[in-house]
Amino acid sequence: MSTIRIQNVNKFYGALQVLKNVDLAIGSGEFTVLLGPSGCGKSTLLSAIAGLEEIQEGGIELGGRDVTHVEPAKRDIAMVFQSYALYPTMTVAGNMSFGLRVNRTPKAEIDQRVNWAARLLQIENLLDRKPSQLSGGQRQRVAIGRALVRKTPVYLFDEPLSNLDAKLRTEMRVEIKRLHQTLGATMIYVTHDQIEAMTLATHIALMRAGVVEQFGHPEDLYQRPASLFVAGFIGSPSMNFLPGTLAPNGAGVGLELPGLGGGQQAVDVGSYAFAAPAKAGEITVGLRPEDIELVNDGPALEGKTLFVEPMGADSLAWFDVAGHRVSVRLKADDGKRVGETARLAVPTEKLSLFDPNTENRV
Ligand SMILES: Nc1ncnc2c1ncn2[C@@H]1O[C@H](COP(=O)(O)OP(=O)(O)OP(=O)(O)O)[C@@H](O)[C@H]1O
Ligand SMILES: [Mg+2]
Repeated sequence: MSTIRIQNVNKFYGALQVLKNVDLAIGSGEFTVLLGPSGCGKSTLLSAIAGLEEIQEGGIELGGRDVTHVEPAKRDIAMVFQSYALYPTMTVAGNMSFGLRVNRTPKAEIDQRVNWAARLLQIENLLDRKPSQLSGGQRQRVAIGRALVRKTPVYLFDEPLSNLDAKLRTEMRVEIKRLHQTLGATMIYVTHDQIEAMTLATHIALMRAGVVEQFGHPEDLYQRPASLFVAGFIGSPSMNFLPGTLAPNGAGVGLELPGLGGGQQAVDVGSYAFAAPAKAGEITVGLRPEDIELVNDGPALEGKTLFVEPMGADSLAWFDVAGHRVSVRLKADDGKRVGETARLAVPTEKLSLFDPNTENRV
């Protein structure tokens, strides 16, 4: 096991800066996911940790050792690549042991490690096959096995499941989680799939355009997103956003919202954990679909039901609230209300407020 420290890393391709002041402290045994849209710098950061990409500024420490200028082979890291080319002429065992044979590891040790990894990945019965005789998921396991046999304290994964179909992805996701729990190694995993990130990670670093927008526990990013970008990126369907106005008064903080009906001017959000004293003015209000309840009375947004999407376990209803589309997660059998008006309670305990100019949480 090993800690990882990434200190103020800047990386340029010519004039293009692709990593901007990236600073992360990763604990030993953590499962950290680098999440973000295509092109945000996830693979570049992972490759920099592995030593495959040079950085122009900053430093990288593994297990307390400065490896910024250490060559990849001496970093004690194993990496699983997105495009995991297996050698087609070699068997599964041959593919898994290739690196060890190159390093002249003794044969008994190689056999022991290959069998150990094959058992963990449940591919023991495939060791004599060629890659062409395997399914996509089995090939992916071999690619992971090739990294596991190195028995390093740190494993890096770059979108290892992106070539698999949805069902296999879910199955392999569980396998990777189990692997992490069994090995207790420090793992960094790149994906642009927020579900994969939420289910696997002990910590998520959400990146945008070379910048880490937020680093924390998955539930922190979900419940207390630091910016509009984080709020919109994590959660499916996405968080609802409404333009509101804050009006602090002696007794509390009034929040005016479009569609607030029943003679209500504002709801009180005095109990919201403001980072700084609330200022009067425009505010962007974020509401998760599952935090909104339909109510008969009390302060609520008036909405017209546009359509309902049944999803099996529950259903997703879409409302028009004063011209804004708002989604609400409802019980599965709660879908017979299209065209009806409804009252959407504002979850004052669970909303997120953002400055419309800086787009940061307030
Ligand atoms: N060798 C290179 N030369 C110039 N620019 C590059 C090079 N490699 C990557 N880039 C640029 O660096 C940025 C980050 O790329 P990177 O591959 O790290 O993104 P990513 O987050 O992994 O995206 P994806 O999800 O599509 O894999 C992109 O804008 C990309 O175009
Ligand atoms: Mg990538």
